[in-house]
Amino acid sequence: MQVIRIILVLLLCRAVEFVKIKNGSHGNRMRDCGKKCLKKRSTHVKRFDQFLSTICSESLHENEKIMDCQDKQLITIPPNLPRDAVHLQLAGNKIHRLKALMFSTLKNLKSLDLQRNAIAYIEEGAFEGLDELSTLLLQHNQLQFMSEEVFMPIPKLKYLRIYGNPWNCNCKLDQMIRKLQIPGQRNLGNLAKCEAPKYFAGHKLKTINVSMLCQDENNDERPLPIQNTADSTKCDIYLFPKSRIDCQNKGLMKVPIDIPVEVMEIDLSKNKIRQLNAKNFMNFNELETLNLSSNAIGYINPAAFAGLLRLKELDLSSNVLHNFEYGVLEHLYFIEKLVLTGNPWRCDFQIHYLAYWLQVHYNVQFEGLECTMPNEYKGWTVQRYIKKYYEDCPKEKTIVDFDTYDSDKSEEESRRLP
Ligand SMILES: *[C@@H]1O[C@H](CO)[C@@H](O)[C@H](O)[C@H]1NC(C)=O
Ligand SMILES: *[C@@H]1O[C@H](CO)[C@@H](O)[C@H](O)[C@H]1NC(C)=O
Ligand SMILES: *[C@@H]1O[C@H](CO)[C@@H](O)[C@H](O)[C@H]1NC(C)=O
Repeated sequence: MQVIRIILVLLLCRAVEFVKIKNGSHGNRMRDCGKKCLKKRSTHVKRFDQFLSTICSESLHENEKIMDCQDKQLITIPPNLPRDAVHLQLAGNKIHRLKALMFSTLKNLKSLDLQRNAIAYIEEGAFEGLDELSTLLLQHNQLQFMSEEVFMPIPKLKYLRIYGNPWNCNCKLDQMIRKLQIPGQRNLGNLAKCEAPKYFAGHKLKTINVSMLCQDENNDERPLPIQNTADSTKCDIYLFPKSRIDCQNKGLMKVPIDIPVEVMEIDLSKNKIRQLNAKNFMNFNELETLNLSSNAIGYINPAAFAGLLRLKELDLSSNVLHNFEYGVLEHLYFIEKLVLTGNPWRCDFQIHYLAYWLQVHYNVQFEGLECTMPNEYKGWTVQRYIKKYYEDCPKEKTIVDFDTYDSDKSEEESRRLP
């Protein structure tokens, strides 16, 4: 009798565990099976947690749980990931296929990073349950095809990156591409390009003429699909600890036109950019750091920095700037630091705008403002040159008469009044 009871209890435990594993949940049926079971369960959990903790590391960013499981040779996702995870980083693993319901327990997930895996197929229900998901990174995988049904369970998706996949732009991909092309979907699949068929190869999913996808593929009479040039496909995008795009040393001749607008930092250093055009950085409302160091910039349009409402740090070192045209700095309300080293600043009347702007905005730190020409002032700081200039001609051109700054000046003065 006793023996039978023990066997029964054990069987029940098994059964409960089986249900649990199948369900993947922490239901409360555990109570039914008494102390033995709890003990068994808890050592199991402990061992499992230890196992998990060696794969993924857990951290918090602004109270949101991040699970970092990057570059771990994983072929699937680790089981029992914490349900309160908000960001899941699985980049650089060896996942081949995304299976239906694979992430369904992670109801709080906002971002899912699957870049640099070997994903060749995504089952339709793969993102089922991810009601909160807004960022999905799938760049650098092996996707040729994806059904638009994949997106059904993730209505909040705002940022989707799928470039670096060998997309086959045939009739099967028609619906998916149409979805990407819906106006207003600014951050869905921007840089992705077709690899096949030949006719569309190298063209962006976002801009090809969809009405040609399902036409006869052997007809070479078709007009060329729309094409875009400057892009940031070669750059690396990071989301944590802050959103940043690294385009360092990528041979860029122009500021790429399709950098995601939500980034906080853009590194364009060590490229071949020659000039900054009007509105090159329009819409980058979050941008705090812009690095344009070591390019060949000789001209900056006065409206080039329009829109950079939050920019704090601007690195223009090692370019070929002689001066700033009037207006260049007027858009930078929150700038804190300007790096100007390594430019051939020319100390003549054209440099006055920059010098006075810095004088008025005395909180802005700057470095590297030194005359390299004319020979007379070579090696002088620009400030010394300006001082000399006014000593030489004291009357007409005094600082107070520099009309552009009248308003700022009177503001300063009124602030100082008791
Ligand atoms: C899964 O757990 C829930 C409670 O969390 C329960 O209602 C349901 O019956 C379980 N499913 C299975 C297949 O046992
Ligand atoms: C797209 O292709 C269709 C069919 O070939 C053609 O009628 C249409 O003019 C094209 N649209 C553009 C913008 O090229
Ligand atoms: C800009 O990039 C250069 C070279 O890549 C680096 O040395 C410099 O520190 C960067 N500047 C800022 C402000 O991060």
